[in-house]
Amino acid sequence: MALLEICLALVVIGYLIYKWSTATFKTFEERNLYFEKPYPFVGNVGASALQRASFQKQLTEFYERTRQHKLVGFFNLRTPMITLNDPELIKKICVKDFDHFPNHQLFIISKERLINDMLSVMRDQRWKHMRNTLTPVFTAAKMRNMFTLMNESFAECLQHLDTSAKSLPGRKGFEVDMKVLCNKLSNDIIATTAFGLKVNSYDNPENEFYEIGQSLVFSRGLQFFKFMLSSLVPTIFSFLKLTIFDSAKVDYFVRLVVDAIRYREKHNITRPDMIQLLMEAKKESEDNWTDDEIVAQCFIFFFAAFENNSNLICTTTYELLHNPDIQERLYEEIIETKEALNGAPLHYDAVQKMTYMDMVISESLRKWTLAAATDRFCSKDYTLTDDDGTKLFDFKVGDRVNIPISGLHWDDRYFPEPRKFDPERFSDERKGDIVPYTYLPFGVGPRNCIGNRYALMQVKGMLYNLLLHYKIEASPKTTKDLWGSARGFNFTPRSGFWMHLVPRK
Ligand code: HEM
Repeated sequence: MALLEICLALVVIGYLIYKWSTATFKTFEERNLYFEKPYPFVGNVGASALQRASFQKQLTEFYERTRQHKLVGFFNLRTPMITLNDPELIKKICVKDFDHFPNHQLFIISKERLINDMLSVMRDQRWKHMRNTLTPVFTAAKMRNMFTLMNESFAECLQHLDTSAKSLPGRKGFEVDMKVLCNKLSNDIIATTAFGLKVNSYDNPENEFYEIGQSLVFSRGLQFFKFMLSSLVPTIFSFLKLTIFDSAKVDYFVRLVVDAIRYREKHNITRPDMIQLLMEAKKESEDNWTDDEIVAQCFIFFFAAFENNSNLICTTTYELLHNPDIQERLYEEIIETKEALNGAPLHYDAVQKMTYMDMVISESLRKWTLAAATDRFCSKDYTLTDDDGTKLFDFKVGDRVNIPISGLHWDDRYFPEPRKFDPERFSDERKGDIVPYTYLPFGVGPRNCIGNRYALMQVKGMLYNLLLHYKIEASPKTTKDLWGSARGFNFTPRSGFWMHLVPRK
């Protein structure tokens, strides 16, 4: 009898869970919008949720199958989202009628410290004020000063590579896992430029900043699991009083920034980094930002910069080793730049002048889109119409919009032969042919990426240094099929980003 009751209870619980997992699946039928059949729990993202494909691959293939529809229903796990497959509609929603869609959806629903103070999570007027406060932090003039700090980190990275090269005398080069190398670089650069802290993760791989930072990164391990749980079952997550970030680790970062601010105020110290810029921005702003609100920005900069910047170097070097002609042409530009510098260290303006470098990075950001998609949240009801006034869809408050960046980047109507790595797409002669709102590596409209200048400066600076000293070649461990082998939210192959570096001298 007891056994029967247990079995019955399990069946009922199983049924309820199934019902819950599919409760939203009628949304698009009811709203008369084309959609693909979703699966319980995983919606339309089964392959990536189950780690069988990267999020990019899954979303790009979804876009390819549905691109003839301007608007498509899409289930991100259980969450219904309306995908905009048409560049004109993207412009309408993200730029022209931004007032109706000024925020991101909340992926993380949690009251814990810092999360709700991050720029990317802030909403409406509060977001607008913080965005205005932060915009001066990322101007070209500020980046110019910050470049000196980056130069120190590039030099440490090269020193480390030099030691590896010398440890294998007589050998023509050595293997590196570019991802490990660039994670350390990203870490050291963000430590010095955002947190005012000098660390060298090559000589001292166990430094506290690196260890704590690594354990907080979203895209892997326990952090990834907690992140998924909080977005899938937010009520249970808060009921169990779980937190995404370990509070001791958050406190470490808070202390770092707050102590630096106090110390600098007391001793009148200035340093060309973000703490300094945030202190100035705070002073100039009429909003009385709290310490937490300021620290939270360093925190989001850490997450945004850490993986993205290092991934961009990896995907670009991966293309360069497969395309030796492109690598050689880039090397020639680098040599010209070095000669023009005439012994002076690399600086921001010299980086900006490297036009071929910019074409290569732009193409890398197209082909290996780091942010597969972005989203918007409808805050005011809105009727979307076509150019001729035909009504396309009624958006209601609470609707979520999906912008399929990687799909657009691989659409052969906009980028012929999308799998080909062709920097010429971004040459002066051809870049005017790019259809507006089809190339969106840093998002779109007033809510676009605030840190793109910083990211490009770091990546270009590192590539300059790397290619100046090394030729990048394939190693036996280089992944053959990056597209097929990547999993999760970024393109890192499970076996690592192995490459062979041959010293130029
Ligand atoms: C290659 C590197 C990067 C890529 C591809 C990237 C991409 C993006 C994308 C697609 C968005 C969403 C934009 C939208 O919804 O329209 C975004 C937002 C954001 N990014 Fe980046 N990002 C990168 C690096 C950085 C860096 C280095 C920082 C900071 C130092 C940063 C800070 C932010 C912030 C704070 C937001 C939210 C902006 C807001 O809500 O107002 N990103 N990024």
